[in-house]
Amino acid sequence: MSPDQLQVKAPSGTRDVLPPESSRWQALIARFATAANNAGYGMIQGPMFEDIEVFQRVGEATDVVRKEMYVFEDRGGRTLALRPEGTAGVVRAFVQHRPTTPWKVWYAAPNFRYERPQAGRYRQHHQLGIEAIGTDDPDIDVEVISIAHDLYRSVGLTRVSLLLNSLGDSVCRPTYDQALKDHLEARREDLCDEHRERAMDNPLRVLDCKKKACRDATRDAPRIVDHLCEECKAHFERVQEGLSALDIDFIIESRLVRGLDYYTRTTFEFQASEIDAAQSAIGGGGRYDKLAESLGGPATPGIGFGSGIERVLLAADGEGVFPAPEDRIDVFVVDTTGGTAARDITSELRRAGRRADRAFDGRSMKAQMKAADKSGARTVVIVGEDEVAAGEVTVRDLTTKEQRRIPRSALVEELSQ
Ligand code: HAM
Repeated sequence: MSPDQLQVKAPSGTRDVLPPESSRWQALIARFATAANNAGYGMIQGPMFEDIEVFQRVGEATDVVRKEMYVFEDRGGRTLALRPEGTAGVVRAFVQHRPTTPWKVWYAAPNFRYERPQAGRYRQHHQLGIEAIGTDDPDIDVEVISIAHDLYRSVGLTRVSLLLNSLGDSVCRPTYDQALKDHLEARREDLCDEHRERAMDNPLRVLDCKKKACRDATRDAPRIVDHLCEECKAHFERVQEGLSALDIDFIIESRLVRGLDYYTRTTFEFQASEIDAAQSAIGGGGRYDKLAESLGGPATPGIGFGSGIERVLLAADGEGVFPAPEDRIDVFVVDTTGGTAARDITSELRRAGRRADRAFDGRSMKAQMKAADKSGARTVVIVGEDEVAAGEVTVRDLTTKEQRRIPRSALVEELSQ
């Protein structure tokens, strides 16, 4: 490529998150990390790409795996894929390292899906997520859902609904799948083009189809919640009871099948009414009790959720909450002598834990004072020829406009109090 043909834009469906917007990201991630840590979850940092098989287990009948994955061959001839979602890689790590259970981890990480870009839908999106592996106790379902719920609440979101479903297990699901297949078979001609051909591969997908034809054909389809076996029913009831006890409102939505195939029993989605319907899911998750086994590990149940950072912030914009925190500098150092004061004082202040900044390139006093104003600093330290000669500095409070001279040697201690 010649220099004038260089592609100078971010690829379609990706975006740069720059300051000050990025300070909201930082604040959201920090808030989530604290909430997860407080509930006993440790951070996991895994590879951004895996052997393609890791994701194929997520569901070969899903759009995410069939149509949207970024697949490539590396120089060693291995077929790899960029992570389209976080759970499969975490479960792969669990199977590989066999940590003691319950194993509770959180992540904040990018995912890649070749989707049609639009507001709230990106080819690289970022998820805050947790996974709890090693127990099928319904109380952990409540724990996982409540962490997401409380995060949204702490951000200030109020117009969010929680949809809840159970997809059953290997005892009751086959019977339900058959009942649904029978229903769909009798209406095959009414389904959308894609599902007329493929409905029988994975009948649950039809319930998730947004096309009117499929919506109409499944309006009176059998409901999974009516087909749960005794154990799944008891599990689901305990989850509902737990959510109610924690004052978490939910709506049972028997169509909620989610876009990935590993789910069993509890599934859930948080939808924000502030965002366009197609992108309204700000987070979702559920149980995946068979996933560890299908990745070659011991049978180990698990549950988790993933929440799109971009979408949570869009919902926050819609509700006018969670503004960018002010990234204020504490102290701005103005040195009009062209000497070493700005360099040395900022460094000393930072080492003492203060946020300190300065101007560069020998700018005029006026320009430096303007930069100080812009930085949001409350205190400006001014060093001119007079101050240098006296071994002093001027400390000016930008709010009260008061200023005083103090010995240079006392400065850092004084400003660190
Ligand atoms: P997911 O529903 O595919 O589930 O994605 C989780 C969340 O990521 C969505 O609710 C949405 O907020 C966000 N998201 C997904 N795709 C995009 C996109 N193209 N652009 C912007 N945001 C997006 C999972 O990925 C599962 N791994 C969640 C999970 C964890 N299940 C169990 N544990």
